[in-house]
Amino acid sequence: MNQTNQTPQITCHHADALQFMPVYGLSPDLIIADPPFNINHVYLDINDNLPPIKYLTWTEEWITMAVSMLKQSGNLLICMDDKYVSDIDMICRSSKLHRQNWIIWHYGFGQSGKLDTRKKFTKSKMHILRYTKNKHKYYFDAPSVAVKSFRQLKYNDKRADNRGKCPDDVFIMPRIAGTHKERIKGVSTQIPINLLKIWINAMCPPDGLVFDPFSGSGNVLLAAKSIGRNSVGCEISNMRYSIIHNRINAAVSHNNTAAEYYQV
Ligand SMILES: C[S@@+](CC[C@H](N)C(=O)[O-])C[C@H]1O[C@@H](n2cnc3c(N)ncnc32)[C@H](O)[C@@H]1O
Repeated sequence: MNQTNQTPQITCHHADALQFMPVYGLSPDLIIADPPFNINHVYLDINDNLPPIKYLTWTEEWITMAVSMLKQSGNLLICMDDKYVSDIDMICRSSKLHRQNWIIWHYGFGQSGKLDTRKKFTKSKMHILRYTKNKHKYYFDAPSVAVKSFRQLKYNDKRADNRGKCPDDVFIMPRIAGTHKERIKGVSTQIPINLLKIWINAMCPPDGLVFDPFSGSGNVLLAAKSIGRNSVGCEISNMRYSIIHNRINAAVSHNNTAAEYYQV
C-alpha cells in the first residue's frame, strides 16, 4: 500500500475550465474529466444540447488544454456517453495521445416507460477512456488496487499471485440514485467515491495532484483527499460550486474520510 499524504491540499475554483486551464500553471499527474455529455441533460448554467459540431469543437479545445498541462508521466481519464465516444476517441488519438484502457463503469439502471414500446437495450454504462502522453512510460500502480483473482478464490490454483490481480476494465457498481444517502441534492451525475478511489490510487502517485475540470458535486476532489492526494477542481455553476465549497470546508475542518462528508 502507498504511503499517504496526511494533509493533502484540496481546492475548487468557481470558473470556466477553458479559461482556468491555460492560466493556472498546474501540472497534474491525473486528470479526471467528466464533462457534460451533450445529451440534453438539464443543467442550470449550461446548454447541454449544442449542435454536434459545436460540442466537438469545444471538446477538442479543452482536451488540447488538458494535454498541455498533464505531466509527461500522467494519465487523462475522460468520461463519456455512447453518443460521442467514437468522435472523442478520434480527437484524442489525433492529439497524439495513447489510449491505454477503455474502461466501462456498468451502473445498472431501472427503466421508465412501457416495455413493449422499447426499441433499444437499456443504457447502463459509462465509458471512461484512459490516455497517456507517452506510449510506454506512465504512472500505474497495479499492486495498490489489486483484487483477488479467480485462481485464488475459486480454483485454489498454486500459480496464483498471492498479491491478487489487477482489476478488470469493467467496474460494476451501482450509480448514486436519488434515494441513496451519498446523493448530493441537485447533482444527479455523481461518480461514486469508492470507484474514484480505485482510479486515483492506480493512476496518481502518493503526494501527486489530481485535477478535475468539471467538478460537479466535488466527488473527485474529495475522493482524492481521502486517500492523501492533492486535488484542484473547477466548476462553472454557482449552485454546484457552493455545494463543493461547503463539502470541502466540512472535509477539511473535520479531517474526515470520504464516507462521512456526503451531505453538508
Ligand atoms: C457530468 S457533471 C460532473 C459530475 C462529477 N463527476 C461528479 O461526480 O459529481 C459536469 C459538470 O461540469 C460543469 N461544467 C460544464 N461546463 C463547464 C465549464 N466550461 N467549466 C467548468 N465546469 C463546467 C457542470 O456544471 C457540471 O457540474
